[in-house]
Amino acid sequence: MTFKTIIEPFRIKTVEPIRHTTRAEREAALAVAGYNLFLLRAEDVLIDLLTDSGTGAMSSAQWAGMMQGDESYAGARSFYRFEAAVQEITGLKHVIPTHQGRAAERILFGTAVNAGDIVPNNTHFDTTRANIEARGAVALDIPCDECRHPQLEAPFKGNIDLAALERVLAENPGKVPLAMITVTNNSGGGQPVSLANIRAASAICRRHSVPFYLDACRFAENSWFIKLREEGYADKTPLAIAQEMFSYVDGCTMSAKKDGMANIGGFLALNDDSLARGCKNLLILTEGFPTYGGLAGYDLEAIAVGLKEALDEDYLRYRIRSVAYLGDICQANGIPHVRPTGGHALYLDAKALLPHIPWNEYPAWALSLVLYLEGGVRSVPIDSVMFGRQPDGSEKPAALELLRLAFPRRVYTQSHVDYLAEVLVLAKQLAPRIRGVKIVEEPPVLRHFTSRFAPVAGQLVVGE
Ligand SMILES: Cc1ncc(COP(=O)(O)O)c(C=O)c1O
Repeated sequence: MTFKTIIEPFRIKTVEPIRHTTRAEREAALAVAGYNLFLLRAEDVLIDLLTDSGTGAMSSAQWAGMMQGDESYAGARSFYRFEAAVQEITGLKHVIPTHQGRAAERILFGTAVNAGDIVPNNTHFDTTRANIEARGAVALDIPCDECRHPQLEAPFKGNIDLAALERVLAENPGKVPLAMITVTNNSGGGQPVSLANIRAASAICRRHSVPFYLDACRFAENSWFIKLREEGYADKTPLAIAQEMFSYVDGCTMSAKKDGMANIGGFLALNDDSLARGCKNLLILTEGFPTYGGLAGYDLEAIAVGLKEALDEDYLRYRIRSVAYLGDICQANGIPHVRPTGGHALYLDAKALLPHIPWNEYPAWALSLVLYLEGGVRSVPIDSVMFGRQPDGSEKPAALELLRLAFPRRVYTQSHVDYLAEVLVLAKQLAPRIRGVKIVEEPPVLRHFTSRFAPVAGQLVVGE
């Protein structure tokens, strides 16, 4: 007898209470936070889907590992356990711990990227783009065409555009210090990248002697999609698939706050000896000695265990299914979202849901505020607020106006998701009455984190 219910492959050992608030309390909290959900107090949020980054629940094995943490300044046992776990999966020679993913990006680009250079990627995440632009270089997004069509059902919408990659490398000899692919493609709807695409991109880079890197934050989820959807991989383990993925690259940046199942941490791993030397020197300057890189020994232990747990088949089956479950409910209720559902998040298509709100009144941002106002749910817009402001100060619409509901790992149960579905159905009913927002205060970079907003119509939901 095969049961249809996919249960959480764990039982709860420790709980953290969450608090219900009233609509009036949430309205007041929004005004205090300048209509920016990043500026809310977490205790005022019921279901927090702002990010899957560092918000997961660690396992009893990870907590046990933390008690083993060796806090020696240099050459700690914990570093060698961490290094071995990373090398078992990536096969990469030099493993450099960092406090999180953007630190690995800053160390790599601070050593390898110069002004005027071009770094192609399927879609750069916001910190990756900001760290490249901080070097005076160009962060070039060349996603496959399918990625631009939110509702198109296709298996690997995270793929890079291979013809565009070939063109960029051929037309800019000596100006591309490295090329990247982000797995899964977070800013492009959490969509997976096929092994065939990674293999082909690697061959193109090799032909042009350009180092090829993965932004590997969600490598385990990407491996599961390859197992489910790519010819010839159904019988392979997620570990074997991950090992093949990394066999095509020269290095990777990684935030262990995703598929490292940890609350903090990251790493840079690469094969190039002289580049590794340069990176370690920069690391010592700003992060710490290369055997800890800004992390405690117990953090390194938690990551070493977490990387293995992220590749567990029961966990990955439940993980990917729990997002698809919410996607199915949205599909049944005509709530437009990126199809197929991503690995770590559901991405609502705010442009399709709120066609009456122009891009520069930020439909995805307005929708995020309504989900909080009505249901206490926090999410993050991947939209014209995040990507609209150009390096020259002008503003242009983002390719997509998406609202991401990112699922922390091993935190929420199916009943939380059922509640969430009710909130989304209500937002769909309210859609014609939802109005946009305007920016009233904006910082120079990464504006989505700290800008303050105001409803253009004085309130988010007008009329009765
Ligand atoms: C694809 C991707 N790359 C890099 C990062 C940056 O990682 P961190 O937040 O650990 O600095 C993130 C964070 O969400 C991400 O999703």
